[in-house]
Amino acid sequence: MGFCSLSNLAMADRHGEDSPYFAGWKAYDLNPYDLLYNPSGIIQMGLAENQVGTDLLEEWLEKHSDIPTWKGTLTSFKQTALYQDYHGLANFRKALANFMAEVRGRRVMIDPDMIVLTAGATAGNEILTFCIADPGEALLVPTPYYPGFDRDLRWRTGVDIIPVKCYSYNNFEVTLPALEKAYQEGLSKKQSIKAILITNPSNPLGLTISPQTLTMILDFAAEKSIHVISDEVYAGTVFSPQPFTSILQIVQSSNKYDPETVHVVYSLSKDLGLPGFRIGAIYSSNPRIITASRRMSSFSLVSSQTQVLLKCLLSDSGFIAEYLATIKERLKRRHGEFKMGLKEVGIDSLEGNAGLFSWVDLRNLLVCDNWDGEMKLWRVILEEIGLNVSPGCSFHCEEPGWFRVCYGNMSEDEMNVALGRIKAFMSAGRAKEIAVLSMGKTDALAAAEGSSGVAAAAAAAACTSLGLDAGDLQPEPLAH
Ligand SMILES: Cc1ncc(COP(=O)(O)O)c(C=O)c1O
Repeated sequence: MGFCSLSNLAMADRHGEDSPYFAGWKAYDLNPYDLLYNPSGIIQMGLAENQVGTDLLEEWLEKHSDIPTWKGTLTSFKQTALYQDYHGLANFRKALANFMAEVRGRRVMIDPDMIVLTAGATAGNEILTFCIADPGEALLVPTPYYPGFDRDLRWRTGVDIIPVKCYSYNNFEVTLPALEKAYQEGLSKKQSIKAILITNPSNPLGLTISPQTLTMILDFAAEKSIHVISDEVYAGTVFSPQPFTSILQIVQSSNKYDPETVHVVYSLSKDLGLPGFRIGAIYSSNPRIITASRRMSSFSLVSSQTQVLLKCLLSDSGFIAEYLATIKERLKRRHGEFKMGLKEVGIDSLEGNAGLFSWVDLRNLLVCDNWDGEMKLWRVILEEIGLNVSPGCSFHCEEPGWFRVCYGNMSEDEMNVALGRIKAFMSAGRAKEIAVLSMGKTDALAAAEGSSGVAAAAAAAACTSLGLDAGDLQPEPLAH
C-alpha cells in the first residue's frame, strides 16, 4: 500500500502546542487534585478559567428554568433548530453589543451591526488575521503573550508573529523603541508587517494597558499604516479603582485615527466564565473586514440555542450589573490574598489589576538563570509540589523565572491548599530536599556558585547533601 501524505500546513509544528503550557494540562489530567478522592493530586493553576461567578449564573438559570424549554423566550424550537442567518440572531447581537458597552463602562459606542459572531475569541483572532494578512506577512505581538496565539494567528493562516520584546524593569509595558525595533527586525527579513495585536488586559500579566500607552500604539500604527487588533477578552475582570480603557474609547473620542484600522476581539469565555459555550465576537468599523469575517465565520458559528439562552441572560440588566460587580470584588480579594500569601514566604508577583491569574517572579528560585533552569523549576513545581503553573517561556517571555499562576478556576479553599503547598516548599527543610531532587551534581555545584537568594541557599544545601564542595567549581556563564 502506498503512503498517503497529509498537508504540510497541518503537519507543520507552527501550532505551538508542544509547549509546557499544554504539557502541564496533560500532567494534570492524569492526576487531578480532589479534596476527598485525590488530595495529593496536581492542582490545576494553568487554566485561565473564571469560576468565581459560576454560582451566580447557576442561580440565574435556576430562576429561569423555563428558558431551555423555549417557554421563556420569544422563539420556538423550530425557529432555533433550522439554519440561522450567518449574521447571528439580531436580538442576541444587540444584547451582546449592550454587554460589551457595559463592560467598557459605557464609554464606548458598540453598534450591533459591526459585530461578527465567532466560536470564541480563538476563532475571532484567526479570522481577523486571515482578513488582514497574507501567508508570509507578519503581526507584531508584545511579549509575554498568550500561548494560544502561536496556533490561532499562525498555523492555518501562514502568517508570522514578530515579538515586541518587553521586560520586567517597567512591568513589561510596551515602549516605542521596542515597537520600532520589532518593526525594523521584520523589515530586515523583508517581511511585510500588517498589524500590531495587543491583549488588554494582558494575559499573562493581569494588567491593563494605560491610555497613554494605547495612544502611543495607535500613533505608531498610524505612522506605519498598519492595523491595530485589541484582544479584550478580560475587559470585565478589571478590579482596580481606575476603570478599564478600551482602545475603542480612544479611537471614538478623537478624529486623529482611522476607525477602519482598529479592531477588537471579544468573547464571553472569561468575563462571563462561559468558555464551553464558545461565544466570541469581532468588532470592526471596516465594512470590508466585516464582510470577509462574516463569510469566514460560517466555519465557526455560535449555535442558535446558545444565542437564545444568552440573549435572555444578557438582557437582564439588573443581573448583569450585580454579576460584574461581584466577580470584580471576588477577583480583587483572590488577587490580594494570593499575593499576600506569596509575599509571606518571600515570593514577589506583579501588582496586577485584572485577569484570573498572577504573574509570579520566581527568578530567585532558579538553580541557573536560563531557560533550562526555568524548565527544571517548572518540573519541580509540577512533580514535587503538585501545582500545574505555566512557565514564562511558553508566553515567549524574555526573562527566565516568571510563571503565570491561575486562581480564578478554583474555590478559595483550593487556592489555600495550593498556597499551603507553596509555603511548605519554601520552608527550609523542603527547599533543601527539592534542591537535591531537582539538581544533578554539576547543576548543584554551578548553582551554588552562581545563584543568589533562596536558590543559592538550597543549592549549597544540595552540595552538602551530595558531598560536594561548591568552592572548587568555576562559575558557569549565564545564558539567556
Ligand atoms: C488573550 C486570550 N485571547 C483569546 C483566548 C481564547 O478565548 P476563547 O475561549 O474565547 O476562544 C484566551 C484564552 O485563554 C486568551 O487568554
